[in-house]
Parts: sequence; C-alpha cells; structure tokens
Amino acid sequence: MTSRYRVEYALKTHRRDQFIEWIKGLLAVPFVLYSQPTGVFETNGFNVTQMSEEAHRRYAEIMRDIEVMIDDQLMHQLDGSRVPSKLKLLVPTIGNFFTRLPLEAAFKFQDRKRYISSRRFVSPSFNDVRLILNTAQLMAVTTHGSLRLATFDGDVTLYEDGQSLEPTSPVIPRMIDLMRKNVKIGIVTAAGYTTGEQYYARLHGLLDAVASSTTLTPQQRQNIVIMGGEANYLFEFSPTSPHLLSPVPRERWLTAEMASWSDSGIAALLDVAEAALRDCVKNMHLPATLMRKDRAVGIIPRDPAVRIPRESLEETVLVVQKILELSVGGRDFDNKVVPFCAFNGGRDVFVDIGDKSWGVSVCQQWFGNGGGNGGGGGGSGGDAESARIRPEQTLHVGDQFLSAGSNDFKARSVSTTAWIASPAETVELLDELADFMGKKLS
Ligand code: IMP
Ligand code: MG
Repeated sequence: MTSRYRVEYALKTHRRDQFIEWIKGLLAVPFVLYSQPTGVFETNGFNVTQMSEEAHRRYAEIMRDIEVMIDDQLMHQLDGSRVPSKLKLLVPTIGNFFTRLPLEAAFKFQDRKRYISSRRFVSPSFNDVRLILNTAQLMAVTTHGSLRLATFDGDVTLYEDGQSLEPTSPVIPRMIDLMRKNVKIGIVTAAGYTTGEQYYARLHGLLDAVASSTTLTPQQRQNIVIMGGEANYLFEFSPTSPHLLSPVPRERWLTAEMASWSDSGIAALLDVAEAALRDCVKNMHLPATLMRKDRAVGIIPRDPAVRIPRESLEETVLVVQKILELSVGGRDFDNKVVPFCAFNGGRDVFVDIGDKSWGVSVCQQWFGNGGGNGGGGGGSGGDAESARIRPEQTLHVGDQFLSAGSNDFKARSVSTTAWIASPAETVELLDELADFMGKKLS
C-alpha cells in the first residue's frame, strides 16, 4: 500500500485517525497563541529562542495532560469499569492501551529531532503526532517494560510496495541485532504463498543474512518466523532447507479459536467474497482480474502498468466488507462468521481469511512456547495460553493503520504498534529502539 500517499490523504479528508486529530487540535491552540509569524520581519525586541521555548513548554504540558488521561484510561480498563474514561468520552473511537505512554518525554525527544516548537507557520502535524506516539510506545516497551517480540508488516514497512528485501537493505542488520538481543521476530504479511520458495524470493536478503551471520547462535537463528496470508501460513527458519524456510503444519500452530474455523465455512466465505468482487469489477468497469487462492481472494490489475483508481479500490473494500458482514454463508462451527480482512493493497484489493491480530497472536503463542525448540507452538492447550508472549511485550510495526480497509490496524487488539510511512522510517524506528534498549541496559 502506498502509505506515504495515504498519510497525506488522511490530512485532507474524512479518513482520519481520531486520536491523532484530537491531539493535533489541542496542540494547535498554543501554536496559534505562541508561535509568532511576525517574528520573521519584526527583528526589534523579538526573541526567537524565547518564542520556541514558550511553545515547547506549552506543547509539553499538553502532552503530559494526555499522558495522565491515558493513565486514567488504563485504570478504567483494569477495573472493567462500565463508566467510560474521560479519554473515551473525548475520543469515542479510542481502543484499549496495553502500556502507559510517556508522551511528554516522547514529545521532548521528537522536538529535539524535528524542531516542532521552532516552527512559526506550520503547526504540529499529523506526522509529528504519529512519530511522537511511536517514540512513546518504544519508550514504554523498553524503558518501562521489556520487549520480547517484534512483528513486521512486509510491503512499505520492510521494502517498497511490491518489491523484495534485498541484501543491501539497511533494515537487515537492525533486525539481526534484535535477534541477537533475543527479541523474536515475526514477519506478518498479507502476501499469501504456500511455498518457502515464494517467501524466499521476497525476503532473501534477510534470510541469507540470518544464515550467514557470525553473531547469531544457532538457537538465535530460530528467533524468526514468517506468518503469511495474514494468519494462514507459518514458516520457520531452517538452515538446511533449500530456501532456508520450512513450512510448519497448521496443527502445530493454530490457536484454539482458529481451529474452530471450518473448511466449509472458509470456502463459503471466499465464495461470497468472490461474487462480491466480481460484481464490483463489473459495476465499476475495473481493469482488474480476479485471483482466487485457497485462503484468500482478490482483484489485481489486468495489466500491471495500469492502476485501478484509488476510489474504486476503496469502494470495493467497503462493498465487500459489508456484504461479508451481513452474509449467511461463511460461518464457523459456532455459526459465527469466519474472521476475515478485506483491505486495499494500493494496487489491489484482497480478502484474507483471518487478519493480523490472529497472525501476531500465533507468533506470541509460538515463541512463548519456545518456538520450534520447545515442542512447537503448543496448539490449543491451556498451557500454550499461559506461556504466550503478552501484548505489552509485543510491538507490531506497519504502515496500514486507518480503520477502514487497512490490515495492520487489526494488530492493535493484541499488541502495541508503531505506525510508519516508509521503509526508511522503519530503519529510523529500529535505531531509536536500539538506543532505548541500550539505555535501559546501561
Ligand atoms: P503486506 O503489506 O506485507 O501486508 O502485503 C500486502 C500485499 O501483498 C497486498 O497489497 C498484495 O499485493 C500482496 N498479496 C499477495 N498475495 C496476497 C494474498 O493472498 N492476500 C493478500 N495480499 C496478498
Ligand atoms: Mg504494508
């Protein structure tokens, strides 16, 4: 998904992240009151440093106030209180938090990098706030907690949309460094392939680096898995396999709930999705062709050089989502609709069985139970549940966090998250993370 574009799009239209917009609104007040554009031509008696210090102080106070509101929200979550928190009243779409967020410290960190308080014409932006939230989340899972699992989306997060992880990618040494520090890694991608060869084609730079690393112990080499098709295909690292990956049979990793999704329910859901997609192609005259897989169905451009209009892709996602939600087909053994994820991939639309919340959950269970070493993911037993890596010890990094038609968004229900806009931002984020982890150690 072309999320740099999406991030800008979010600035312009109704497709907004309510929490980020609300914070932006709060910061706009001191911006208007204290950042003085007249300073550009009024040199007499105007002190730029004083101005930025005052704006900095006010912004920091606001971030501190939001931090306290999140603490209150955490108390409400613990209580199981029916009375909504203040934050929930102010931002009704807000979800659950798994950690505190040290927003004041994170703001100060980002202000040193981005000079937000020194600006007189451009107010604190969507991207400023997004990066402050990321920093706060990194601080929370390192300084205040201890990170055990980092999961990464593929397209746009690790490599450019539709590309592969080449050996020269700067993200590779940073991921190896995490594995060396015994942080487990899951690549949780929507790309759904049934063979290790196809994933090797996309991820060979990283897999070859893991194989040839002189700093990783044989055990640490097992600190990585690929979770493909959102939550459908698990591969573990295997130094002796031809493509360094070995498929793990489903019975070794399906969680108890996933095991209740019936094959007939899955097929019926994909049938309904396929019919809905075909209708969209017909009704909107999309230059698209249908692609049916065993765990997904999608539409891709008929000619790779021709882009399907963004509006058509969005419309298709919303239509298919609605039809599936209301459908009577695609039920599991308990007569619940089999979980699915319909999303706009930037050039295509896919409907996958399950979503990234299930994919990240599988990684939490797999590694919590010792991965391939400790007898496998442990299947559906009660012990597997208790050993799983917890949400506050997990960080999912991705580019798709708008609620409608985005696939990383779903990971928010099982882990902390960081919202990046490009592979270069992922590199910066991992440097920040290494910095915070180092500070904790020293
Ligand atoms: P992600 O950003 O790593 O989650 O990858 C999403 C992209 O993978 C989509 O935009 C598709 O182009 C591609 N893809 C390939 N196979 C599948 C599939 O089975 N389901 C969903 N997306 C797929
Ligand atoms: Mg992506």
